Amino acid sequence: MKNEYFPKIVVIENIVNEAPDVKTFTLRLKHESGGKLKYKPGQFMMLSLPGYGEAPFTFASRPASNGRFQITVKKLGSLTAALHDLREKDAVGIRGPYGNSFPLDKIENKDLLFVAGGIGMAPLRSLIQQVFKNRKNYGNVEIVYGSRSPRELVYKDEIISWQDNPDTDIHLTVDTPDETWGGACGVVCALFPKVKLDPKTSVVILCGPPVMIKSAIKDILKLGFRDSNIYASLERHMKCGAGKCGHCYIKGKYVCLDGPNFSYLEMKKLEINS
Ligand SMILES: Cc1cc2nc3c(=O)[nH]c(=O)nc-3n(C[C@H](O)[C@H](O)[C@H](O)COP(=O)(O)OP(=O)(O)OC[C@H]3O[C@@H](n4cnc5c(N)ncnc54)[C@H](O)[C@@H]3O)c2cc1C
Ligand code: FES
Repeated sequence: MKNEYFPKIVVIENIVNEAPDVKTFTLRLKHESGGKLKYKPGQFMMLSLPGYGEAPFTFASRPASNGRFQITVKKLGSLTAALHDLREKDAVGIRGPYGNSFPLDKIENKDLLFVAGGIGMAPLRSLIQQVFKNRKNYGNVEIVYGSRSPRELVYKDEIISWQDNPDTDIHLTVDTPDETWGGACGVVCALFPKVKLDPKTSVVILCGPPVMIKSAIKDILKLGFRDSNIYASLERHMKCGAGKCGHCYIKGKYVCLDGPNFSYLEMKKLEINS
């Protein structure tokens, strides 16, 4: 019988230093005969390292035909530190994909506003890559992204290259500039007045620290964006990732199963950020 908790082995093909304490790992299934990993933007995996345990990480790249996928990991505790010490050709275990995707059916042909803070750009990148790969299926795209300092902006070159897509605007900000920074300073919400999308019809997708999501949603609502068109990716402590242990349970919902992506209408019912 198939055991859901039995991890698949994946090999690290490439490692990129994105920012201090943040690395992006390109992974592939060790035995491709076991099939390609099928996932959608917004879903996550449970990644395990013997001796260090298991933790959730979001797919940070769009589903690709070559079967490779990426995760971007911020070093925080023992598992993430051990991951940062790994090298190319090392192997880790993964379970999943788990959770729901971003609302892919609700964003087609719509104008899209993406709002990210720090490492919160990782899950959004998977969707943004997919949107730009199928550019004609979407309206105007604006991306508002902020980090603490210029060095902490992840995927910097890729984000700058997104600006080359038609009908696309990228707005970047940092809390604390350095001598290399000629752009905006301050929190992401300070950039909202630059957004030119029609608030009545555009869909907003946010990911970042809870405090950023809370204040960004407040400001977005003030600009006239509809609460039914706002979605956020939430982080909760997780153990099983598969709706079994109850670790991530809030008011009748399992964040690992019913989320991690929720509409603002759902978040209000769960009394998150409302
Ligand atoms: C659905 C989901 C997707 C995630 N995707 C990513 C990702 O793409 N990249 C990434 O770097 N991290 C991601 N995380 C967070 C990641 O799982 C934690 O950073 C990781 O578990 C830390 O493990 P550790 O053993 O290194 O640190 P620990 O020692 O377990 O924790 C270090 C610190 O981080 C806090 N922490 C740990 N896990 C969480 C959590 N889930 N929510 C809030 N605080 C937490 C702990 O309270 C502690 O203060 C995601 C979390 C969830 C729930
Ligand atoms: S993490 Fe176990 S039920 Fe969600």
